[in-house]
Amino acid sequence: MKKLIALLVISLLSLRAVFPGEGMWLPLLLEQLNESEMKTMGMRISAEDIYSINKSSLKDAILQFGGGCTAEIISNEGLILTNHHCGYGQIQRHSSLEHDYLTTGFWAMSRSEELPNPGLSVTLLIRMEDVTRRALEGVHDNMAGSEREARILENIKKIESDAVANTHYKAKVKPFYYGNEYYLFVTEVFTDVRLVGAPPSSIGKFGGDTDNWMWPRHTGDFSLFRIYADKDNKPADYSPDNVPYRPKNHLPISLKGAEKGDFTFVFGYPGTTQEYLPSFAIEMITGETNPVAIRLRSKRLDIFDRYMGESDLVRIQYSAKHAGVANFWKKMMGENRGIKRLDAIAKKQESETGFIRWASENPERNAKYGRIIPEFEKLYAELSGLKLDETYLIEGGLGVEAIRFAYSFKGLVELARDNASPGDIEKAVSQLKLSAAGFFKNYHRPVDESVFSALMQDWFSHQEAVRMPQGLVRASIPYGTNYARWAEAVFSKTIFANEERTMALLDGFKPKNAKLIENDPMFILAKDIYQHYLKNIQPGVARLTAGRDSLQRIYMLGLMEYQPQRRFYPDANSTLRIAYGKVDGFYPRDAVYYRHYTTLEGILEKEGLGMEDYVVAPKLKELHAKKDYGRYAAPDGTMRTAFAASNHTTGGNSGSPVLNADGQLIGINFDRNWEGTMSDLMYDPDQCRNISADIRYVLFIVDKFAGAGHLVQEMTLVD
Ligand code: ARG
Ligand code: GLU
Repeated sequence: MKKLIALLVISLLSLRAVFPGEGMWLPLLLEQLNESEMKTMGMRISAEDIYSINKSSLKDAILQFGGGCTAEIISNEGLILTNHHCGYGQIQRHSSLEHDYLTTGFWAMSRSEELPNPGLSVTLLIRMEDVTRRALEGVHDNMAGSEREARILENIKKIESDAVANTHYKAKVKPFYYGNEYYLFVTEVFTDVRLVGAPPSSIGKFGGDTDNWMWPRHTGDFSLFRIYADKDNKPADYSPDNVPYRPKNHLPISLKGAEKGDFTFVFGYPGTTQEYLPSFAIEMITGETNPVAIRLRSKRLDIFDRYMGESDLVRIQYSAKHAGVANFWKKMMGENRGIKRLDAIAKKQESETGFIRWASENPERNAKYGRIIPEFEKLYAELSGLKLDETYLIEGGLGVEAIRFAYSFKGLVELARDNASPGDIEKAVSQLKLSAAGFFKNYHRPVDESVFSALMQDWFSHQEAVRMPQGLVRASIPYGTNYARWAEAVFSKTIFANEERTMALLDGFKPKNAKLIENDPMFILAKDIYQHYLKNIQPGVARLTAGRDSLQRIYMLGLMEYQPQRRFYPDANSTLRIAYGKVDGFYPRDAVYYRHYTTLEGILEKEGLGMEDYVVAPKLKELHAKKDYGRYAAPDGTMRTAFAASNHTTGGNSGSPVLNADGQLIGINFDRNWEGTMSDLMYDPDQCRNISADIRYVLFIVDKFAGAGHLVQEMTLVD
């Protein structure tokens, strides 16, 4: 009896261990590694329905959107869905004072009103293939690192060119498990992608930075685009003759919603995770670099806040910059907190001790793996110092806008010095004029001057002078510790914090004027900071990172041998992955439970707080007052706005479809909860949740709020 109970407990424990959602899996290996578990968790479709190269599958509806987001095809006329924050740049570029689409929203009421977006592309995966054997051909264990790398690079080039010979496809081979495996991705890239619809920011960005990385959430974070192709349905650059793309597949949409415990999966392009780092790396990130970056960003944000509160113009000029700085700032704080709460460093140390013991059990193993952990320790001791230098330089020195801007004139100085042709110089000058106009449109010198003073003060008081850019140190000497006076001196003299001076320099620029740039105090500082980075930081970081990667490659193999029961997934690397989990709430703190969904009621609740991030459009309030939700209401009559689930996601998963057990679209992923942001380093099933807009809220906004029901008409709604 006792034995039986013990067995039961063990099997329950192991069930718990595999159950809730860690991992970003390769579509190609789903059938082999995940299908049976997915079915146990409730999935009713097959791995072949998700990824197949023999028949049309869900993967034919998944896109990488621009460089860093995911989108999905939701009609047979090329309509695609992504996040509002992913389409933000495009929406902003089409906006002007007369048509402020960010504020009012944008809806194309006919195809002719859909707006082209030069520079934007979406990428469809045609197929993927394990090419490890070919990539590692001719590689052997006693090769030097650089020789090994060169050999692999050569192999990869050949695989890529073979894969797309005589097609319009593109090919890319990427390493997995730190170079233990290689996969080939053949893709089709579409470049005529037009804006179809976006809600006003009061919906698409509801909650703003206040709610960013947080649950409970009420953001209608979506926008709609359409792919256009040529008459043969092939990718083509924008042309008025292009027609809506006819996809192999598009996602059906379910209005049945997501209830607690329901199986869901996320299909998209996660960017970067680092799940297999040693404890030393976690110590470096959470103990050294994150705290410095957080502190320096806090100082910058405080200054932004102060000036933004004083002037509407500055508020508009700095709102996107503020959001950009704040996004990762908040993420790093959540990550540090999560790692601590998980006791992740101690957990890693414990497993490393076990690994060393296991390796020492037999001489062959010991030869292969025994040195890995001590070598990691040595390597990170050196890397930590350099990473800290890098963090100060990037978050400190390069946090000053004028320093980065001044450095963009370096190319012009070089052209002048190298006696470039007048044509080349003119081209460079006109490009700089364009970027200068963009820069000064959103530049407020007093903000930047305060930032300079605050960041230099922080940098100089925390780092030894010998570790800092020497020109910078010398330039500071006349001002002692009066950083405000130093800032004042630099900013009043420089060309690059002043639009008139910059334009005067560029208007009728002559090669001999290059002296004006070279003698500019901001340019001199910028050059010194960048040179310090290129000479004293970057080479060491590159060398140590290469060393780290080759240690990681062997460590990865060792871990797989050491823990044969554990299922390993490769770290995210911007390739197509599947995460699966369950709709679920969580306990952020003792006794506090967060339900798995939010409703429109919460939007009005938040409005009551009277904050700028919680403004509600009158039309939305009207619809709420009349409970005019149509077929998009939940069975209990509420309007569900968002839901949380235990899918393992990261940056790049923004815009990813969240699908139900039948492979139907029920939501669009846009964020994670703050308590779970350490999942890039270590996942915790109790705390890690992805946040999705409920598809019923999305369609309600399109149909009832915007009156763009014709778009819902072209989608495939199932029940
Ligand atoms: N945290 C999300 C992501 O990493 C959303 C960022 C955009 N939203 C915002 N309020 N800044 O991309
Ligand atoms: N907002 C993120 C993105 O843009 C997704 C959130 C996350 O990091 O999980 O990809």
